Amino acid sequence: TCSAGDSQTVVIGLAADSGCGKSTFMRRLTSVFGGAAEPPKGGNPDSNTLISDMTTVICLDDYHSLDRTGRKEKGVTALDPRANDFDLMYEQVKALKSGIAVDKPIYNHVTGLLDPPELIKPPKILVIEGLHPMFDERVRDLLDFSIYLDISNEVKFAWKIQRDMAERGHSLESIKASIEARKPDFDAFIDPQKQYADAVIEVLPTQLIPDDNEGKVLRVRLLMKEGVEHFSPVYLFDEGSTISWIPCGRKLTCSYPGIKFSYGPDTYFGHEVSVLEMDGQFDRLDELIYVESHLSNLSTKFYGEVTQQMLKHADFPGSNNGTGLFQTIVGLKIRDLYEQITAIKTAAPLQATKA
Ligand code: ADP
Ligand code: G6P
Repeated sequence: TCSAGDSQTVVIGLAADSGCGKSTFMRRLTSVFGGAAEPPKGGNPDSNTLISDMTTVICLDDYHSLDRTGRKEKGVTALDPRANDFDLMYEQVKALKSGIAVDKPIYNHVTGLLDPPELIKPPKILVIEGLHPMFDERVRDLLDFSIYLDISNEVKFAWKIQRDMAERGHSLESIKASIEARKPDFDAFIDPQKQYADAVIEVLPTQLIPDDNEGKVLRVRLLMKEGVEHFSPVYLFDEGSTISWIPCGRKLTCSYPGIKFSYGPDTYFGHEVSVLEMDGQFDRLDELIYVESHLSNLSTKFYGEVTQQMLKHADFPGSNNGTGLFQTIVGLKIRDLYEQITAIKTAAPLQATKA
């Protein structure tokens, strides 16, 4: 039989609407584990999977049960649960978690069709990213850690314009219309998942510029649930206190509108959380070390690791603001969680023989 007693697949869920920075986040995460993730070799060139030594990232669009034509015929969007096969998603994530390889379907984003499946072997860390990682209770229960990227409408709009207008030639009107059309299903099926997340990254317009509507300067909040096994929140200066900090001055170069950090306890959907907030952007990324040295519980392996990671990927979107900083921090926290879980599993048989 396929007994997989010694397997240790840790499963992470990352939820967000499309175009909200999931792939950028995944590149930062796999980099923390020391390897660039690549598409599987020899398979379908349109595969959505990314594989590195430690991590396999699968895109949940692969569990679309209705292809593009099917959705059109039935009048449902990709966000609608009826367009997705949660039974198969559950079976396959469960199999991978217990060390069994699966033949996962491939949703081809170019043709809008379902391609023949690809073989996915159980990795050390499995990330399931997409629209619905926390939607189905059975799948949700398989997650060791979950993250929700919460991009406010204003910012989502600004990013979409940047991408779809500049790079894909869409009109402002058509972008507005497509966001509006997705909104009801987004509100009904995607957004509610944030209540289950262990960490939420909220991306909002800045409060440093009155009535800003450019969406360039961002206020980013990292909400970290208290009491999650193998996860202890990062803090600024003093754990549990409420802090407001403007680091600009002698050690940090800030041009208009500056940088403001805040930290403190809050509640989120009835859960206690710690919130770390950064409004504004860095002028000089190498000076991030000054900010890093004031943050505690970062789960770094050496002094300056956050800054090093940020400098390494300075060209990724969001590297000069809280999106890149908090994605990097969550990546380090996931590495720590993985190491804690595997240390316990390795230690367990020893304890059993002692007893
Ligand atoms: P997803 O995988 O969720 O579709 P991506 O990571 O590919 O999202 O990002 C989609 C686009 O959104 C990027 O090309 C970029 O224009 C914009 N974007 C993503 N993250 C950020 C960020 N932190 N700051 C600014 N723009 C961003
Ligand atoms: C994927 C994305 C969805 C997007 C869809 C396109 O499934 O995750 O966010 O809406 O592709 O759907 P369409 O029906 O326009 O091809």
